[in-house]
Amino acid sequence: MHILSVDQFEKKWLEQLFKQADKFRQMDHDPKSRQDLAQLHMGKQLCSLFYEPSTRTRLSFETAAVKLGMGVVSTENAREFSSAAKGETIEDTVKVLNEYHYDAIVLRHHETGAAVRAATVSGTPVINAGDGKGEHPTQALLDMYTIYRKFGRLDNLTVIMGGDLANGRTVRSLAKLLSRGSGNSLMFVSIPELQIGADIKEVLRANNTQFREEANLEDVAGLADVVYWTRLQKERLDPGVKITHNFVIDEATLKLFKQDMIIMHPLPRVDEITTQVDDDPRAQYFEQAGNGLYVRMALIDALVTT
Ligand code: NCD
Repeated sequence: MHILSVDQFEKKWLEQLFKQADKFRQMDHDPKSRQDLAQLHMGKQLCSLFYEPSTRTRLSFETAAVKLGMGVVSTENAREFSSAAKGETIEDTVKVLNEYHYDAIVLRHHETGAAVRAATVSGTPVINAGDGKGEHPTQALLDMYTIYRKFGRLDNLTVIMGGDLANGRTVRSLAKLLSRGSGNSLMFVSIPELQIGADIKEVLRANNTQFREEANLEDVAGLADVVYWTRLQKERLDPGVKITHNFVIDEATLKLFKQDMIIMHPLPRVDEITTQVDDDPRAQYFEQAGNGLYVRMALIDALVTT
């Protein structure tokens, strides 16, 4: 089984995954159970193949595998240091990796659709760790897990998503996954050039999920259970395009939010959330990143258990 898009996740499966993530978290915090964890998948191997920069996704996947007792083989700059630089296709690279008999391949790639192309020629499970402006399904898993831990549900939530919604893949995956819940309401806050894609709006309509597009966070801030903020994806803009944005969350914005809400961000944060916000208990982005470790442990466990 490959992990390519949030489209393949059932709600029941999510809840099982989150339960397993909770269990792994608990075990990881107990020195004795840590040793049991490290026996779980001994003798299995994960390959991580990254063509784009990454901190959290790569390190949390690799750490997850190591904590489960697996070996990890990794290339962190495949665009420059793999045979891709000589013109090799992703298909050929993945065919070769299949000959090495890994238990899973984690792939991040700059081209939308690259994970699907890789999976097409791979008998080894491929996990999409972000493909261009496409999807980032495992980020959506950890985002949903973070929401679930806070609210105990994945339904009847008002979620504001803001920033670069046109080029950021995390919001695309999360919006689709939230539309599986019942009664969720989404608000997309951005400038017109960076608004959410028509394909995502199509999915939301098909799932009867309420959504609207807004220009100013201030106008809707008080309604949110979750504010999911993102950076401008500078590396994905056409050369020469200059965009100035006004989407900044600072101490003044904090006053507009409800007390019982959370502020999320997939990270990296650049200048769209000021560091003063970090001390507010509603700021959950670092915990959110930490949740990624346990969700990815649960995901790897599900994939490599036969
Ligand atoms: C995101 C990504 O790579 O899409 N990072 C991540 O995995 N947490 C978000 C981003 O780069 O802006």
